[in-house]
Amino acid sequence: MPNANLLSHSVKAMKPSATLESAQLARDLKSQGRDVISLATGEPDFPTPAHIIEAAHKAAVDGKTKYSPVNGVPELRAAIAAKLKLDNALDVDVQNIVVCSGAKQVISNAFIATLNPGDEVIIPAPYWVSYPELVSMLGGVPVVAQTDGPRFILSPEELEKRISPRTKWLLLNSPSNPSGATYSDTELKELGKVLQRHPHVLVMTDDIYEYLVYGDTTFATLAQAVPELADRTLVINGVSKAYAMTGWRIGYAAGRTELIKAMCKVQGQLSSAPNMVAQYAAAAALNGPRTEVRNFVRTYDERRKISAAILNATDGLSCTLPDGAFYLFPSCQNILGKKTQQGKVIDTDAAFATELLNSEGVAVVPGSAFGGLLVFSAISDGTKS
Ligand SMILES: Cc1ncc(COP(=O)(O)O)c(C=O)c1O
Repeated sequence: MPNANLLSHSVKAMKPSATLESAQLARDLKSQGRDVISLATGEPDFPTPAHIIEAAHKAAVDGKTKYSPVNGVPELRAAIAAKLKLDNALDVDVQNIVVCSGAKQVISNAFIATLNPGDEVIIPAPYWVSYPELVSMLGGVPVVAQTDGPRFILSPEELEKRISPRTKWLLLNSPSNPSGATYSDTELKELGKVLQRHPHVLVMTDDIYEYLVYGDTTFATLAQAVPELADRTLVINGVSKAYAMTGWRIGYAAGRTELIKAMCKVQGQLSSAPNMVAQYAAAAALNGPRTEVRNFVRTYDERRKISAAILNATDGLSCTLPDGAFYLFPSCQNILGKKTQQGKVIDTDAAFATELLNSEGVAVVPGSAFGGLLVFSAISDGTKS
Protein backbone atom coordinates (compact mmCIF):
# COMPACT_ATOMS: atom_id res chain seq x y z
CA MET A 1 0.00 0.00 0.00
CA PRO A 2 1.45 3.42 -0.87
CA ASN A 3 2.29 5.41 2.27
CA ALA A 4 -0.03 8.25 1.28
CA ASN A 5 -3.03 5.97 1.85
CA LEU A 6 -1.89 4.43 5.12
CA LEU A 7 -3.50 6.84 7.56
CA SER A 8 -7.10 7.99 7.92
CA HIS A 9 -8.07 11.58 7.11
CA SER A 10 -9.10 12.12 10.71
CA VAL A 11 -5.75 10.97 12.11
CA LYS A 12 -3.87 13.07 9.58
CA ALA A 13 -5.87 16.11 10.67
CA MET A 14 -5.37 15.37 14.39
CA LYS A 15 -2.81 17.29 16.43
CA PRO A 16 -0.77 15.19 18.87
CA SER A 17 -1.42 16.05 22.52
CA ALA A 18 0.68 19.19 23.12
CA THR A 19 1.21 18.32 26.78
CA LEU A 20 2.33 14.76 26.09
CA GLU A 21 4.54 15.97 23.26
CA SER A 22 6.34 18.49 25.50
CA ALA A 23 6.74 15.83 28.20
CA GLN A 24 8.23 13.40 25.66
CA LEU A 25 10.65 16.06 24.41
CA ALA A 26 11.81 16.60 27.99
CA ARG A 27 12.25 12.83 28.48
CA ASP A 28 14.24 12.58 25.23
CA LEU A 29 16.57 15.37 26.33
CA LYS A 30 16.98 13.80 29.77
CA SER A 31 17.94 10.49 28.16
CA GLN A 32 20.64 12.39 26.24
CA GLY A 33 22.04 13.50 29.58
CA ARG A 34 20.56 17.03 29.76
CA ASP A 35 19.36 18.33 33.09
CA VAL A 36 15.71 19.02 32.24
CA ILE A 37 12.80 20.05 34.44
CA SER A 38 9.50 19.01 32.88
CA LEU A 39 6.49 21.13 33.79
CA ALA A 40 4.45 19.83 30.88
CA THR A 41 1.85 17.40 32.19
CA GLY A 42 -0.65 17.61 35.03
CA GLU A 43 0.31 14.73 37.20
CA PRO A 44 0.43 14.57 41.01
CA ASP A 45 3.92 13.64 42.16
CA PHE A 46 2.58 11.89 45.28
CA PRO A 47 2.27 8.12 45.49
CA THR A 48 -1.25 6.67 45.50
CA PRO A 49 -2.33 6.41 49.18
CA ALA A 50 -1.47 3.05 50.79
CA HIS A 51 -5.03 1.97 51.65
CA ILE A 52 -5.96 2.25 47.95
CA ILE A 53 -3.04 0.09 46.89
CA GLU A 54 -3.97 -2.45 49.57
CA ALA A 55 -7.53 -2.61 48.22
CA ALA A 56 -6.17 -3.33 44.73
CA HIS A 57 -3.91 -6.04 46.11
CA LYS A 58 -6.81 -7.65 47.97
CA ALA A 59 -8.99 -7.51 44.83
CA ALA A 60 -6.30 -9.26 42.81
CA VAL A 61 -5.78 -11.92 45.50
CA ASP A 62 -9.57 -12.41 45.70
CA GLY A 63 -9.66 -13.22 42.00
CA LYS A 64 -11.11 -9.94 40.71
CA THR A 65 -9.03 -10.44 37.62
CA LYS A 66 -11.68 -11.24 35.00
CA TYR A 67 -13.60 -9.02 32.61
CA SER A 68 -15.63 -6.45 34.48
CA PRO A 69 -19.27 -5.69 33.63
CA VAL A 70 -19.21 -3.16 30.77
CA ASN A 71 -20.57 -0.31 32.92
CA GLY A 72 -18.25 -1.03 35.86
CA VAL A 73 -18.41 -3.21 38.99
CA PRO A 74 -21.45 -2.62 41.24
CA GLU A 75 -19.23 -1.82 44.26
CA LEU A 76 -17.61 1.11 42.45
CA ARG A 77 -20.85 2.40 40.96
CA ALA A 78 -22.40 2.33 44.45
CA ALA A 79 -19.39 4.29 45.78
CA ILE A 80 -19.80 6.84 42.97
CA ALA A 81 -23.54 7.23 43.66
CA ALA A 82 -22.73 7.81 47.36
CA LYS A 83 -20.04 10.36 46.46
CA LEU A 84 -22.38 12.26 44.13
CA LYS A 85 -24.99 12.39 46.90
CA LEU A 86 -22.55 13.43 49.62
CA ASP A 87 -20.50 16.02 47.71
CA ASN A 88 -22.92 17.26 45.08
CA ALA A 89 -26.40 16.53 46.50
CA LEU A 90 -27.19 14.58 43.31
CA ASP A 91 -29.50 11.57 43.49
CA VAL A 92 -28.21 9.22 40.83
CA ASP A 93 -29.30 5.63 40.31
CA VAL A 94 -26.35 3.22 39.90
CA GLN A 95 -27.82 2.27 36.49
CA ASN A 96 -27.16 5.83 35.37
CA ILE A 97 -23.44 5.60 36.08
CA VAL A 98 -20.74 4.30 33.74
CA VAL A 99 -17.10 3.68 34.68
CA CYS A 100 -14.47 4.09 31.95
CA SER A 101 -10.68 3.95 31.57
CA GLY A 102 -10.13 7.51 32.76
CA ALA A 103 -12.20 10.65 32.30
CA LYS A 104 -10.61 10.96 28.88
CA GLN A 105 -12.38 7.81 27.76
CA VAL A 106 -15.63 9.01 29.36
CA ILE A 107 -15.49 12.10 27.17
CA SER A 108 -14.54 10.10 24.07
CA ASN A 109 -17.37 7.59 24.64
CA ALA A 110 -19.88 10.41 25.11
CA PHE A 111 -18.80 12.12 21.88
CA ILE A 112 -18.78 8.84 19.91
CA ALA A 113 -22.25 8.11 21.25
CA THR A 114 -23.75 11.48 20.31
CA LEU A 115 -21.88 13.44 17.64
CA ASN A 116 -22.94 13.44 14.01
CA PRO A 117 -20.82 15.18 11.38
CA GLY A 118 -21.29 18.94 11.68
CA ASP A 119 -22.57 18.86 15.26
CA GLU A 120 -21.08 21.68 17.27
CA VAL A 121 -19.46 21.54 20.71
CA ILE A 122 -18.90 24.81 22.56
CA ILE A 123 -15.54 24.82 24.33
CA PRO A 124 -14.55 27.82 26.46
CA ALA A 125 -10.89 28.84 25.96
CA PRO A 126 -8.37 28.30 27.40
CA TYR A 127 -9.28 24.62 27.19
CA TRP A 128 -7.72 21.25 27.87
CA VAL A 129 -5.89 20.31 24.67
CA SER A 130 -7.80 17.07 24.06
CA TYR A 131 -11.32 18.55 23.86
CA PRO A 132 -11.25 20.07 20.35
CA GLU A 133 -9.21 17.19 18.93
CA LEU A 134 -11.71 14.58 20.13
CA VAL A 135 -14.59 16.58 18.65
CA SER A 136 -12.87 17.08 15.29
CA MET A 137 -11.80 13.44 15.10
CA LEU A 138 -15.47 12.45 15.10
CA GLY A 139 -16.49 14.96 12.46
CA GLY A 140 -17.89 17.42 15.01
CA VAL A 141 -17.07 21.13 15.02
CA PRO A 142 -15.35 22.64 18.06
CA VAL A 143 -16.76 26.13 18.63
CA VAL A 144 -14.35 28.06 20.82
CA ALA A 145 -15.94 30.52 23.25
CA GLN A 146 -13.66 33.31 24.41
CA THR A 147 -13.12 34.23 28.04
CA ASP A 148 -11.07 37.05 29.51
CA GLY A 149 -8.34 37.02 32.14
CA PRO A 150 -7.64 37.18 34.94
CA ARG A 151 -10.40 34.65 35.80
CA PHE A 152 -11.23 33.19 32.36
CA ILE A 153 -14.90 32.55 33.20
CA LEU A 154 -17.37 32.07 30.32
CA SER A 155 -19.92 34.90 30.31
CA PRO A 156 -23.64 34.28 29.66
CA GLU A 157 -23.44 36.72 26.69
CA GLU A 158 -20.57 34.81 25.06
CA LEU A 159 -22.38 31.51 25.61
CA GLU A 160 -25.56 32.89 24.04
CA LYS A 161 -23.55 34.11 21.03
CA ARG A 162 -21.98 30.69 20.42
CA ILE A 163 -25.18 28.62 20.56
CA SER A 164 -26.60 27.63 17.17
CA PRO A 165 -29.21 25.12 16.00
CA ARG A 166 -26.26 22.69 15.47
CA THR A 167 -24.99 22.96 19.06
CA LYS A 168 -24.96 19.52 20.65
CA TRP A 169 -22.86 20.10 23.74
CA LEU A 170 -21.41 22.77 25.96
CA LEU A 171 -18.27 21.48 27.65
CA LEU A 172 -17.63 23.09 31.02
CA ASN A 173 -14.44 22.31 32.92
CA SER A 174 -14.28 23.73 36.44
CA PRO A 175 -11.73 24.01 37.98
CA SER A 176 -10.16 24.41 34.59
CA ASN A 177 -7.06 22.97 33.02
CA PRO A 178 -5.10 25.15 32.29
CA SER A 179 -6.40 28.41 33.82
CA GLY A 180 -7.66 27.14 37.18
CA ALA A 181 -10.91 29.05 36.51
CA THR A 182 -13.50 27.84 39.00
CA TYR A 183 -17.16 28.73 38.47
CA SER A 184 -19.17 29.84 41.49
CA ASP A 185 -22.71 28.62 42.08
CA THR A 186 -23.97 32.07 40.99
CA GLU A 187 -21.95 32.01 37.76
CA LEU A 188 -23.33 28.56 36.92
CA LYS A 189 -26.87 29.76 37.60
CA GLU A 190 -26.29 32.66 35.15
CA LEU A 191 -25.11 30.22 32.46
CA GLY A 192 -28.08 28.01 33.39
CA LYS A 193 -30.50 30.81 32.46
CA VAL A 194 -29.05 30.87 28.94
CA LEU A 195 -29.09 27.08 28.64
CA GLN A 196 -32.71 26.89 29.71
CA ARG A 197 -33.61 29.01 26.68
CA HIS A 198 -31.94 26.38 24.43
CA PRO A 199 -33.32 22.96 25.34
CA HIS A 200 -31.44 21.18 22.54
CA VAL A 201 -28.04 21.84 24.17
CA LEU A 202 -26.53 19.09 26.32
CA VAL A 203 -23.84 19.89 28.89
CA MET A 204 -20.74 17.95 29.88
CA THR A 205 -19.28 19.07 33.18
CA ASP A 206 -15.72 17.84 33.52
CA ASP A 207 -15.33 17.97 37.31
CA ILE A 208 -12.02 16.08 37.45
CA TYR A 209 -10.36 18.82 39.60
CA GLU A 210 -13.33 19.10 42.00
CA TYR A 211 -11.31 18.63 45.20
CA LEU A 212 -8.43 20.87 44.12
CA VAL A 213 -9.70 24.32 45.12
CA TYR A 214 -7.87 26.91 47.22
CA GLY A 215 -8.52 29.73 49.66
CA ASP A 216 -12.18 30.75 49.85
CA THR A 217 -13.08 29.04 46.58
CA THR A 218 -15.80 26.42 46.77
CA PHE A 219 -16.63 23.89 44.09
CA ALA A 220 -20.01 23.90 42.37
CA THR A 221 -21.36 21.77 39.54
CA LEU A 222 -24.09 22.72 37.08
CA ALA A 223 -26.45 19.77 37.74
CA GLN A 224 -26.52 20.81 41.40
CA ALA A 225 -26.66 24.59 40.82
CA VAL A 226 -29.45 24.31 38.24
CA PRO A 227 -31.44 21.10 38.92
CA GLU A 228 -33.65 21.81 35.88
CA LEU A 229 -30.58 21.03 33.74
CA ALA A 230 -29.63 17.79 35.52
CA ASP A 231 -31.45 15.67 32.92
CA ARG A 232 -29.32 17.02 30.08
CA THR A 233 -26.06 17.17 31.98
CA LEU A 234 -23.40 14.49 31.88
CA VAL A 235 -21.43 14.78 35.13
CA ILE A 236 -17.85 13.60 34.56
CA ASN A 237 -15.27 12.90 37.22
CA GLY A 238 -12.51 10.46 38.10
CA VAL A 239 -9.85 9.50 40.59
CA SER A 240 -6.71 10.42 38.60
CA LYS A 241 -6.03 13.92 39.88
CA ALA A 242 -7.54 13.99 43.38
CA TYR A 243 -6.16 10.68 44.62
CA ALA A 244 -2.83 10.65 42.73
CA MET A 245 -4.12 7.77 40.60
CA THR A 246 -3.32 8.86 37.04
CA GLY A 247 -1.88 5.45 36.13
CA TRP A 248 -4.89 3.47 37.31
CA ARG A 249 -7.08 4.90 34.53
CA ILE A 250 -10.48 5.16 36.19
CA GLY A 251 -13.02 7.87 35.36
CA TYR A 252 -16.80 7.89 35.46
CA ALA A 253 -19.94 9.67 34.35
CA ALA A 254 -23.50 10.04 35.54
CA GLY A 255 -26.27 11.01 33.18
CA ARG A 256 -29.61 10.18 31.65
CA THR A 257 -30.46 6.59 30.86
CA GLU A 258 -30.32 6.55 27.06
CA LEU A 259 -27.00 8.39 27.02
CA ILE A 260 -25.35 6.09 29.58
CA LYS A 261 -26.68 3.04 27.71
CA ALA A 262 -25.25 4.37 24.44
CA MET A 263 -21.89 5.06 26.09
CA CYS A 264 -21.86 1.47 27.39
CA LYS A 265 -22.58 0.22 23.88
CA VAL A 266 -19.56 2.18 22.62
CA GLN A 267 -17.37 0.98 25.48
CA GLY A 268 -18.43 -2.64 24.97
CA GLN A 269 -17.09 -2.48 21.43
CA LEU A 270 -13.98 -0.36 22.12
CA SER A 271 -12.47 -1.71 25.33
CA SER A 272 -15.02 -4.15 26.85
CA ALA A 273 -14.73 -2.55 30.27
CA PRO A 274 -12.29 -0.71 32.53
CA ASN A 275 -9.59 -2.55 34.48
CA MET A 276 -11.17 -4.68 37.20
CA VAL A 277 -8.47 -4.36 39.90
CA ALA A 278 -8.24 -0.60 39.36
CA GLN A 279 -11.99 -0.31 39.90
CA TYR A 280 -11.68 -1.82 43.38
CA ALA A 281 -8.85 0.60 44.09
CA ALA A 282 -11.08 3.49 42.95
CA ALA A 283 -13.92 2.25 45.18
CA ALA A 284 -11.52 2.27 48.14
CA ALA A 285 -10.48 5.81 47.21
CA LEU A 286 -14.05 7.10 47.08
CA ASN A 287 -15.22 5.23 50.20
CA GLY A 288 -12.09 5.91 52.23
CA PRO A 289 -10.78 8.82 54.31
CA ARG A 290 -9.92 12.06 52.53
CA THR A 291 -7.02 12.92 54.82
CA GLU A 292 -4.38 12.44 52.17
CA VAL A 293 -6.35 14.38 49.55
CA ARG A 294 -6.51 17.29 52.01
CA ASN A 295 -2.74 17.05 52.52
CA PHE A 296 -2.15 17.06 48.74
CA VAL A 297 -4.34 20.16 48.40
CA ARG A 298 -2.43 21.93 51.16
CA THR A 299 0.85 21.21 49.38
CA TYR A 300 -0.48 22.36 45.98
CA ASP A 301 -1.72 25.53 47.65
CA GLU A 302 1.74 26.30 49.02
CA ARG A 303 3.38 25.57 45.67
CA ARG A 304 0.79 27.68 43.85
CA LYS A 305 1.63 30.70 45.99
CA ILE A 306 5.40 30.24 45.80
CA SER A 307 5.42 29.57 42.03
CA ALA A 308 3.12 32.51 41.20
CA ALA A 309 5.26 34.82 43.34
CA ILE A 310 8.43 33.69 41.53
CA LEU A 311 6.81 34.17 38.14
CA ASN A 312 5.54 37.62 39.04
CA ALA A 313 9.03 38.58 40.18
CA THR A 314 10.39 37.53 36.77
CA ASP A 315 10.85 40.25 34.20
CA GLY A 316 8.25 39.95 31.43
CA LEU A 317 6.03 37.34 33.08
CA SER A 318 2.79 37.86 34.98
CA CYS A 319 0.58 35.33 36.66
CA THR A 320 -2.66 35.42 38.62
CA LEU A 321 -3.15 32.98 41.46
CA PRO A 322 -5.39 30.15 40.18
CA ASP A 323 -8.50 29.30 42.24
CA GLY A 324 -8.33 25.61 41.46
CA ALA A 325 -6.63 22.67 39.68
CA PHE A 326 -2.82 22.47 39.78
CA TYR A 327 -1.64 24.63 36.93
CA LEU A 328 -0.38 28.13 36.50
CA PHE A 329 -1.31 30.11 33.42
CA PRO A 330 1.16 32.99 33.27
CA SER A 331 1.30 35.44 30.41
CA CYS A 332 4.54 35.96 28.49
CA GLN A 333 3.02 38.86 26.51
CA ASN A 334 5.70 41.28 27.70
CA ILE A 335 8.50 39.02 26.51
CA LEU A 336 7.30 38.92 22.92
CA GLY A 337 9.55 41.01 20.67
CA LYS A 338 12.63 40.55 22.90
CA LYS A 339 15.75 38.79 21.63
CA THR A 340 17.55 35.68 22.88
CA GLN A 341 21.29 35.82 23.63
CA GLN A 342 21.84 34.50 20.12
CA GLY A 343 19.85 37.41 18.71
CA LYS A 344 16.72 35.43 17.77
CA VAL A 345 13.47 37.33 18.25
CA ILE A 346 10.95 35.65 20.53
CA ASP A 347 7.79 36.38 18.60
CA THR A 348 5.35 33.76 19.92
CA ASP A 349 4.65 31.84 23.09
CA ALA A 350 5.85 28.69 21.30
CA ALA A 351 9.20 30.40 20.52
CA PHE A 352 9.47 31.38 24.20
CA ALA A 353 8.76 27.79 25.29
CA THR A 354 11.45 26.51 22.90
CA GLU A 355 13.95 29.05 24.21
CA LEU A 356 13.12 28.13 27.80
CA LEU A 357 13.83 24.48 27.05
CA ASN A 358 16.99 25.13 25.06
CA SER A 359 18.61 27.68 27.34
CA GLU A 360 17.25 26.79 30.79
CA GLY A 361 16.22 23.14 30.41
CA VAL A 362 12.63 23.83 31.49
CA ALA A 363 9.86 22.15 29.47
CA VAL A 364 6.48 23.97 29.41
CA VAL A 365 3.50 23.88 27.09
CA PRO A 366 2.90 26.98 24.96
CA GLY A 367 -0.46 28.44 25.94
CA SER A 368 -1.53 28.73 22.29
CA ALA A 369 -2.11 24.95 22.43
CA PHE A 370 -4.85 25.76 24.95
CA GLY A 371 -6.03 28.91 23.20
CA GLY A 372 -4.07 31.12 25.63
CA LEU A 373 -0.53 32.41 26.04
CA LEU A 374 1.92 30.42 28.11
CA VAL A 375 1.22 27.77 30.67
CA PHE A 376 3.36 25.92 33.15
CA SER A 377 1.99 22.92 35.01
CA ALA A 378 4.38 23.80 37.79
CA ILE A 379 2.64 23.10 41.04
CA SER A 380 1.76 19.47 40.42
CA ASP A 381 5.39 18.49 40.50
CA GLY A 382 6.83 18.49 44.01
CA THR A 383 10.41 18.16 42.90
CA LYS A 384 10.28 21.72 41.58
CA SER A 385 8.83 23.55 44.58
C1 LIG B 1 -9.60 18.73 32.21
C2 LIG B 1 -9.19 17.31 32.17
N1 LIG B 1 -10.14 16.38 31.97
C3 LIG B 1 -9.81 15.07 31.92
C4 LIG B 1 -8.49 14.67 32.06
C5 LIG B 1 -8.17 13.19 31.95
O1 LIG B 1 -8.31 12.54 33.13
P1 LIG B 1 -8.09 10.96 33.23
O2 LIG B 1 -6.72 10.74 33.74
O3 LIG B 1 -9.14 10.51 34.21
O4 LIG B 1 -8.32 10.39 31.87
C6 LIG B 1 -7.49 15.60 32.26
C7 LIG B 1 -6.07 15.19 32.36
O5 LIG B 1 -5.15 15.93 32.17
C8 LIG B 1 -7.84 16.96 32.33
O6 LIG B 1 -6.92 17.91 32.54
